[in-house]
Amino acid sequence: MKKFYITTPIYYPSGKAHMGHCYSTVAADVVARYKRSRGFEVMFLTGTDEHGQKIELAAAADNLSPKSYVDKIVFEFKELWRTLGVSYDKFIRTTDDYHVNTVQKIFKTLYEKGQIYKGKYSGWYCVPCESFFADGKLKNDKCPDCGREVRQQEEEAYFFKLSEYSEKILEFYKNNPEFIQPESRKNEMINFIKSGLEDLCVSRTSFKWGIPVDFDRLHVVYVWLDALTNYVTALGYCQEDEKLFKKFWPADVHFVGKEIVRFHAVIWPAILMALDLEIPSKVYGHGWILFGDGQKMSKSRGNVVDPFVLCKRYGVDAIRYFLLREIPFGSDGYFSNEALITRINSDLANDLGNLISRSSKLAEKGFGSIIPLERENTNEDLKISELALKIINEFEIDMDDFKFSSALSKIWNLISACNKYIDENSPWKMVNIPEKHARLASILYNIFEVLRIISIAIAPIMPETSEKIQFQIGASKKICSWECAKKWGMFQNNNKISRGSALFPRIDCEKELESLEILNLNNNKKEESDKTCSIEDFKKIKLIVVKVLNCEIVKNSKKLLKLLVSGGIFERTVVSGISEYYSPENLIGHNVILVENLKPAKLCGIESHGMILAASSKNGKSVKVLFADSNEPGDTIS
Ligand code: MSP
Repeated sequence: MKKFYITTPIYYPSGKAHMGHCYSTVAADVVARYKRSRGFEVMFLTGTDEHGQKIELAAAADNLSPKSYVDKIVFEFKELWRTLGVSYDKFIRTTDDYHVNTVQKIFKTLYEKGQIYKGKYSGWYCVPCESFFADGKLKNDKCPDCGREVRQQEEEAYFFKLSEYSEKILEFYKNNPEFIQPESRKNEMINFIKSGLEDLCVSRTSFKWGIPVDFDRLHVVYVWLDALTNYVTALGYCQEDEKLFKKFWPADVHFVGKEIVRFHAVIWPAILMALDLEIPSKVYGHGWILFGDGQKMSKSRGNVVDPFVLCKRYGVDAIRYFLLREIPFGSDGYFSNEALITRINSDLANDLGNLISRSSKLAEKGFGSIIPLERENTNEDLKISELALKIINEFEIDMDDFKFSSALSKIWNLISACNKYIDENSPWKMVNIPEKHARLASILYNIFEVLRIISIAIAPIMPETSEKIQFQIGASKKICSWECAKKWGMFQNNNKISRGSALFPRIDCEKELESLEILNLNNNKKEESDKTCSIEDFKKIKLIVVKVLNCEIVKNSKKLLKLLVSGGIFERTVVSGISEYYSPENLIGHNVILVENLKPAKLCGIESHGMILAASSKNGKSVKVLFADSNEPGDTIS
């Protein structure tokens, strides 16, 4: 059996999943379903990329351990994929034991092969992007990727010898001209490589939430090596059972957003070359879903449209259809509720919905829903069958090239042709004229044949709708395989049509937009109220002035100080992450402010009772403890 391995990026579980995340996943699901229907044995992988400083910080802000923090979000991601009917074969979490162990093995292998070496990294660091940038790479002194503040950072780190791979990768592109899709992205990559590849930093010591380098425990594997290798660890590479790896590797295609093509088309092939592994056949860099203001949809910009809400209101298939039809896969495109509703009304309710409802109504009126044997075909009928078979072939070519929007537009041309065929033949006039019944039967038979073919074609994109159509037109599974989509006249005589409710009810656009606005407003208010803290909440926090009696640096930690403080009638140990900004002698003897009733927590094995208040500058470069030397230990702050 032919095999097909498709992957999505693994998502950062750092916030709620949004429509932007659904894009790759739904597209990959469509391909997986399509390939299965074409007889391939498919492995469809998705998952979550759970390590890194961003997650560590987000978890700390929520007062959770990184693992509990991501567990919650990963659950939501999985719920969303279930809602959207995503038929993945495997969901990988980079915190899964088998992945952690294999990444450690890969790291060690690369080190032993001399492909990874220890060095020092200094540069501008962007925390949210977890990336270092050289001086010249900043944009207006800010992160060139996200536009946020960056800070100078230096640390000991391991490096992968990426710079040695420029020629080999360019050569690979030459021999595999289809590797990067769409074509325009290939040119970007060639230019990027030609501008000079630097060795890649693959470990960090400045945060802990990552896979430890097992032979140098101060280091954790930096996220991209951890993340990219998921595509092989998920298949059991370097593990006891390599069956899946042997069967499915190399991947047939990695679907990724355009901003991470670089990692998949340059860094990933280099890592694979270093490991003597085959390189995937294709990396497809799709565009972004944008909002009206031209911004990429993302949680941090607060312009998220909740996919759960939209699926519930309009049905999952409408959302899947919209995502793939509205925006050509390689390009950026806009999302708006209005555009979504317009597509539902015009393409789904009017064109497709109408075709089914008017033809089944005619079948009911004319023949009690059973198309009779006696039929009378004309040249026009031949045209519609030829068109259907031509379009299904073109559809196949587009789907093989991941041109989903174009593939769907062809199916909708066929739907329009069918509606026109009905309009031009006016079959409703034949219902009450028995002599015309053979002709009427023929027209209806042809329409149901086209609908059968359409239902097979759209199954990967709109699985529920496809099934509903097949039920309504009485098409059994036997005549709905992919091969049957390419054959005309598969219906047995006397097939029974069942009239169901409208597949896609029309939506009153103006009213619906108003309702969505109110809904959004309420959701925002709820989110705000979840974020705000009432005076009662605030009163729960006990702030007390304490004197620092003793202070020392915590061994094996770059950031932590252990303080012994006195609040007059009590003494406490507090661990504070300020050693980059204060040495013990700057603190001993001073009065500081303690959050007295914070739940105790263990940091580097030391139980910390409370937290010292400090102010961080906006750019994150400096942290200043709030001294309270004019107060007495034990004074309370309110
Ligand atoms: N964890 C990395 C990927 C590692 S793959 C080995 C990552 N995660 S992400 O959560 O930030 O993004 C995952 C994918 O979602 C990316 O391909 C990104 O392009 C995609 N999208 C996020 N927002 C998007 C839109 N608004 N539109 C389309 N896709 C976008 O990067």
